[in-house]
Amino acid sequence: MSSACKLAAGNWKMNGLRADLDQARALAEAYPTPGCGVLLCPPATLIAPMAAAVAGSALMVGGQDCHAQDAGAHTGDISAQMLVDAGARHVILGHSERRADHGESSATVGAKARAAHRAGLVTIICVGETEAERDAGRTLDVVLGQLRESVPEGATAANTVIAYEPVWAIGTGRTPTLDQIAEVHDALRAAVPDGAMSLLYGGSVKPGNAAEIFAIGNVDGALVGGASLKADDFGTIIAALEAA
Ligand code: 13P
Repeated sequence: MSSACKLAAGNWKMNGLRADLDQARALAEAYPTPGCGVLLCPPATLIAPMAAAVAGSALMVGGQDCHAQDAGAHTGDISAQMLVDAGARHVILGHSERRADHGESSATVGAKARAAHRAGLVTIICVGETEAERDAGRTLDVVLGQLRESVPEGATAANTVIAYEPVWAIGTGRTPTLDQIAEVHDALRAAVPDGAMSLLYGGSVKPGNAAEIFAIGNVDGALVGGASLKADDFGTIIAALEAA
């Protein structure tokens, strides 16, 4: 743990209907004054109702993507300003599922980050290697290359968080060793434009492994997928971060 702000962020991905807002309400009630930032990023349809459901609490709401343009003819897309209007304070950008499913390059991620910053959002910019890249000994090359190309000029600890998510650890139940996480986070700390940026680890973070991951120097929190869908599981992860 460094002196950067601690953040427990949940990425609901393409999961969640209005009935699931109960999970957000339960979290907001269980952690009225958390000892770390707590953020949920539901699908776009739930941003406004979730923000309304947890209004007045410390729980923050974010988006999972935004367009690089401020407005215009982009059917099906969502702008950074729309996210803000719906109650979002953060946006995840460059998640490996966006990079893979939608062919997003790091240059695209950088353009989206500029748009998000213009709108006043905090960006959570994701980087991470595939299993083949790790096996080829290219992990640091890949991760630091994505960092360099995705993080725009003007990024500071106040408007940017970095999430290291090894692609092969996402949704698989497999995690890197603690030494492997530490190696990447140490390299990220040395490379980020503002040394005070929060560095999150993501990829199969669960109630059972959160504490040991948060004990790693230069890990300031987590970006959690599956385990963020249930308030009980995410709550255990939040408690581990508070204690770290
Ligand atoms: P899981 O926690 O489900 O592995 O997902 C991680 C992730 O992709 C968060 O953005």
